Amino acid sequence: MDIGCGPGDITNDIILPALHPNAVIIGTDISEDMIKYARKTYSKEKQLDFDVLDIQTKELPAKYISEFDHIFSFHALHWCFDIKQAFKNIYRMLRPNGTMLVLVVSLHPICKVIQETIQDNRFAPYIKDVNISPVWPFQDSVNPNRELKGLLKEIGFKIDHCSHRNVYHFDDNSDQFLCKYFDLFILPT
Ligand SMILES: C[S@@+](CC[C@H](N)C(=O)[O-])C[C@H]1O[C@@H](n2cnc3c(N)ncnc32)[C@H](O)[C@@H]1O
Repeated sequence: MDIGCGPGDITNDIILPALHPNAVIIGTDISEDMIKYARKTYSKEKQLDFDVLDIQTKELPAKYISEFDHIFSFHALHWCFDIKQAFKNIYRMLRPNGTMLVLVVSLHPICKVIQETIQDNRFAPYIKDVNISPVWPFQDSVNPNRELKGLLKEIGFKIDHCSHRNVYHFDDNSDQFLCKYFDLFILPT
């Protein structure tokens, strides 16, 4: 399973080709619109399908329990209000000796932008009913790596590798730079 698959491009273009040729994969996302688009664009009979799933659910569908050899999630889990529940669900969906490969963003300047935007009266009416958390699970953490490892061990995961990396983005052209971030939002003028 690829959790928080968004439009499905990474699931189709990167994850699927990296797996066994007979692998079957399902991309899941909290957003119905993302799943609708991913299904229309990338579904492959018997090999690639998509489904709506909020990974923080307290009622994990029975069809997913102990069903997966590998679970992936890139750039998605930091949007969770309850990341512990998300990891508990991932643990339950894995088969014995199954593996999880995830990329969680701990902190980014965009956190502050999102929080200020949400509190700004000019924008608040446009961002009602958001189903993603504006406060990221590790944004105030002094040692996100240690915190994440502690959380995973508490749930039952055995950790082979967990690293915290600083990544810097530069662009000579400020419009292009901002576009990379602001395609996330539709800001009123
Ligand atoms: C930045 S996109 C990442 C898409 C893709 N994984 C990638 O790496 O390009 C984050 C996705 O996580 C999804 N998401 C956020 N909270 C989620 C949740 N609780 N359960 C499942 N998906 C969630 C969002 O709807 C969004 O499509």
